[in-house]
Amino acid sequence: MRILWRPFGFSRRLLKVENCRITESESLIPLTWTSLIQRLSRAPRIFLLGQRKRFSTMPETETNQRDSELFSPPSDVRGMTKLDRTAFKKTVTIPVLKARKEIVSKLMRSLKRAALQRPGIKRVIEDPEDEESRLIMLDPYKMFTDDSFEKAELSILRQLNVNPQISNYNLELTYENFKSEEILRAVLPEGQDVTSGFSRVGHIAHLNLRDHQLPFKHLIGQVMIDKNPGITSAVNKINIIDNTYRNFQMEVLSGEENMTTKVRENNYTYEFDFSKVYWNPRLSTEHSRITELLKPGDVLFDVFAGVGPFAIPVAKKNCTVFANDLNPESHKWLLHNCKLNKVDQKVKVFNLDGKDFLQGPVREELMQQLGPLSKERKHSVHIVMNLPAKAIEFLSAFKSLLDGQPCSHELLPTVHCYSFSKDANPAKDVQRRAGAVLGISLEACSSVHLVRNVAPNKEMLCITFQIPAAILYKNQTLNLENYEEPPLKRQRTDESLSEEKTQIASIT
Ligand SMILES: C[S@@+](CC[C@H](N)C(=O)[O-])C[C@H]1O[C@@H](n2cnc3c(N)ncnc32)[C@H](O)[C@@H]1O
Repeated sequence: MRILWRPFGFSRRLLKVENCRITESESLIPLTWTSLIQRLSRAPRIFLLGQRKRFSTMPETETNQRDSELFSPPSDVRGMTKLDRTAFKKTVTIPVLKARKEIVSKLMRSLKRAALQRPGIKRVIEDPEDEESRLIMLDPYKMFTDDSFEKAELSILRQLNVNPQISNYNLELTYENFKSEEILRAVLPEGQDVTSGFSRVGHIAHLNLRDHQLPFKHLIGQVMIDKNPGITSAVNKINIIDNTYRNFQMEVLSGEENMTTKVRENNYTYEFDFSKVYWNPRLSTEHSRITELLKPGDVLFDVFAGVGPFAIPVAKKNCTVFANDLNPESHKWLLHNCKLNKVDQKVKVFNLDGKDFLQGPVREELMQQLGPLSKERKHSVHIVMNLPAKAIEFLSAFKSLLDGQPCSHELLPTVHCYSFSKDANPAKDVQRRAGAVLGISLEACSSVHLVRNVAPNKEMLCITFQIPAAILYKNQTLNLENYEEPPLKRQRTDESLSEEKTQIASIT
């Protein structure tokens, strides 16, 4: 049993109340009280906690459940497929503390625990009854009566001459006050998974909706736009990436149709039409990992370059870059991005099939790089092959690539070839498949890096190895069965190799 003192113009009077928690139901206030409040109230939206507590009949468990729903949208939005923002209006009861306006900021410092913490809702509002006062919104889950203040808080209140009496304030929540997850949880069928996650690509939110979410797809898209500043278009992936150019087939759910966008990755800017080229924001770490391996003066051949996320950062390091993509749209944006990032003088751009690129421009350049003067050469040559579904097949292009040329064991190119694997031992699987294409065992002379988990039981990996001279030069008399790795000639090989070996160890 507790004693409450009721504030705001009521005569002092002692009330005996049951020790129960507040409920949000105003309808539980009997008429006599309601009319009394109406008569006495100078602020129609404020009423007394004591009254509500006194007449609360909700059992404790139900009250808890209702409390957790305090900041949920109204229940009648369930099943909505066309977004009606006005249907999200709801009034909730928030405990408030009245204080003189000049002490409010001082008081707030001591009421951090007790104050309402809800983004988008002001914690201090004008007091409709009194210009000289403010109302401090309190946490409805913690503050039920003035007994809810902790000792230290009460002592500050006393020092500042603030009456600890808590009153209630009817706060109107609107669509703007709810988080996207709260909105979707209220709209989608109860008990079903609500996903509000998406990949952000410039101004585009890229969703991957599940079947049960499809009836709500336009609403979900609009909510993503409303709740994420900078997002003006929401698209849904409508099939897995299985086309040649690896771009998504997508449906615009809401917002602008324009898919030409601009993104920043590792401090470089890329522009492209997201509906026509490949872009994956989850590869930024991999792009910088490879970039880190190259030193100024090194040469990079990027066989499946996309719009340039390997080629451009590497070119910025004063390396020579040969970048290729079969997709005419990727080729167009690659050229554009080289200019945009001011590396167009350092990148030679091609629009060829990967095999033709390897057997044409790459071969020509390697003949010079690995020719008679190669001993004087101090830089490394790297070949990046990021087309995980197929790149391993392209390794066959290295067989006899430099046949007939003077043979050099010096500074053989380092290949970074990507692949997916669903095998129980993905690293071994990739080594085995790449080795099978080349006709050698790569187990002892390659490292495998786990790039990312693409799906349950599907990994994306990168196998790195120096192409043996015996592969590049057909007339080599090396015994491939007993082939041993030539010493790696990259300047920082020891470091990167031990790091890579650690990585392989972690996934083998
Ligand atoms: C997975 S994306 C990688 C793009 C970029 N390297 C990156 O990391 O974001 C593969 C790229 O290979 C291109 N591609 C697909 N088949 C190709 C082929 N046969 N020859 C050359 N490029 C190809 C696609 O157009 C796509 O841009």
